[in-house]
Amino acid sequence: MIHSRIVGTGSFLPGEPVTNSDLVARGIDTSDQWIVERTGIHSRHLAADGVSCSELAEAASRRAIEAADVDPASIDLIIVATSTPDYIFPSSAALLQARLEIRNGGAAFDVQAVCSGFVYALTVADKFIRSGSHKRALVVGAEVFSRILDWKDRATCVLFGDGAGAVIVEAAERPGLLASAIHADGAYNPILCVPGSVSGGTVIGDPFLRMDGQAVFKFAVRVLGDVAQEVLTDAGLGTDDVDWLIPHQANIRILQATAKRLGVSMSRVVTTVDQHGNTSAASIPLALDLALRDGRIRAGSKVLLEGVGGGFTWGAVLLDM
Ligand code: UT7
Repeated sequence: MIHSRIVGTGSFLPGEPVTNSDLVARGIDTSDQWIVERTGIHSRHLAADGVSCSELAEAASRRAIEAADVDPASIDLIIVATSTPDYIFPSSAALLQARLEIRNGGAAFDVQAVCSGFVYALTVADKFIRSGSHKRALVVGAEVFSRILDWKDRATCVLFGDGAGAVIVEAAERPGLLASAIHADGAYNPILCVPGSVSGGTVIGDPFLRMDGQAVFKFAVRVLGDVAQEVLTDAGLGTDDVDWLIPHQANIRILQATAKRLGVSMSRVVTTVDQHGNTSAASIPLALDLALRDGRIRAGSKVLLEGVGGGFTWGAVLLDM
């Protein structure tokens, strides 16, 4: 039986950290105290003008390829989870394939599930690998959310950041991906969306991120708890078996409420929202890479990834590293 395993991770954050005080200095009507108390965010990284999603994805991917010590030409599947692609088309995954100079005819496509994107993409890669159709996947979450923020809307612009995280997943005899689940309920689309499009050379509608923060908050805590239990039950494990919980990094209060609901101590939750803000599809692979590189996550650690985002979408993946 074919299984899949993560064999290397990498991540990349553009530029220097931008603190809450830096945002105040840029004229945003907010305060360090409000942002820290309501979100736990102290700083985030913002890509310079002209830096694209595929550029961030390339930097993270090169680090993952190096960590996995694999030949890029052996990667036969590239999936990029993003809501802020370089272009309408081609996909950022195809652009990433070109940047990495991979010309083996492998598949490359984007997944659009907003902040659940990485969990969706990893689940899809696992299914491709376990089917036997592909052997080695590069799965990336990469975002330049700063491009779709309304810098006059203080309720949203202080929350997000830019970045990318990547993993190499390959066919293995021993299971590395123990269970996964992905879900959506499109009826919730109005509470978190960018309700604009391009037509006839003009933006139609609103090209900025709009959010009903309190509705998102309540929804997120409920589904993150439910989907964590779902994959644990599927794998025949309990919350005590989880060494590290890596939820999507939206807000420290969502992370705390989710951990409490699951009965997991915050000392077993990887937290990056304080330094990265909400990087949407990039937040989970960024946190995974950080905790692997600093030695918290080791070979054999059980790690539960879970995401929730616009759509609404949500999902979880249970890993045996
Ligand atoms: O990936 C999923 C993405 N989204 C999320 O995870 C967001 C989930 N939601 C949240 O994290 C919270 O709802 C927020 C952090 C967005 C907002 O926190 P809240 O406790 O729900 O605040 P609120 O929206 O009820 O606003 C409270 C007050 C308002 O003032 P008044 O009407 O009470 O006078 C806002 O105008 O805070 C004000 N406010 C701000 N003040 C200073 C809103 N944004 C800011 C700001 N700085 N940046």
